[in-house]
Amino acid sequence: MTTIRKCLFPAAGYGTRFLPATKSMPKEMLPVVDKPLIQYGVEEAMEAGMCNIGIVTGRGKRALADHFDVSYELEHQISGSSKEGLLKDIRRILDGCTFSYTRQSEMKGLGHAILTGESLVGNEPFGVVLADDLCVGEGDGVLTQMARIYQKYRCCVVAIEEVPHDEVEKYGVIAGSELEDGVYVVSDMVEKPQPDDAPSNLAIIGRYILTPDIFDVIRNTPPGRNGEIQITDALQIQAERNMVLAYRFKGRRFDCGSVHGFVEATNYFYERWKETQD
Ligand code: UTP
Repeated sequence: MTTIRKCLFPAAGYGTRFLPATKSMPKEMLPVVDKPLIQYGVEEAMEAGMCNIGIVTGRGKRALADHFDVSYELEHQISGSSKEGLLKDIRRILDGCTFSYTRQSEMKGLGHAILTGESLVGNEPFGVVLADDLCVGEGDGVLTQMARIYQKYRCCVVAIEEVPHDEVEKYGVIAGSELEDGVYVVSDMVEKPQPDDAPSNLAIIGRYILTPDIFDVIRNTPPGRNGEIQITDALQIQAERNMVLAYRFKGRRFDCGSVHGFVEATNYFYERWKETQD
């Protein structure tokens, strides 16, 4: 069984929906209760056994690298106090994972960001997490569920969820035939369609497992919507040549790239946090 060891976090976007909060701070560092968004994603990757973390950053994102590093002064300061426990989760991550970084110098789209990560990934299957989609798996984490599908079928897998029909234009949307419960063979993919043109209401969310042949496909994918190189377009080409699967994950996703989803996630995790305080 090949375990997927690597996970890529495209995090070069400007996060304009959160301005001015994201003017000098990466969107991925916005805290949901007591943890930055990206830490939830890294914990999910780690649970799935993907412990080599590759982060595609851009200008103004140094806080990400500092977060996944030891903070000697701080640790010395709180050593022996009750506050030490607050760093337990991040220490576990630092002990279990490696972190590599590369920069996307121009925002040419998610497909381009993933291609920029090629040097961190090499020639093996890998996970992709968009940290602003915060996922809570039912039982196993979403990446763990997807890794199981990959082990069985050995092809690219995208996570999907049903969204209200009038919201499809915010997403990449698939058409496909159901292979087994919740697993679809993709026949078509459209990036941000108008509701009338959408092939379904099954929307792609920010979790992917990709095979390394996707890099060549992205290299040959022309800019699409908004002049950006779209991963959806590359996966559509991949689906015509090989199989691409869409997996309706078990669990819940919060769109923390939007203020509405971010507040929903905060409320949800605050309830969970309160339970740990008793
Ligand atoms: P979004 O579409 O959410 O864009 O990108 P954004 O810039 O982060 O946020 P808004 O819309 O301006 O508020 C989806 C994901 O793809 C990454 C982003 O960092 C985010 O995780 N991305 C997008 C890149 O890394 N590079 C790009 O060129 C585009």
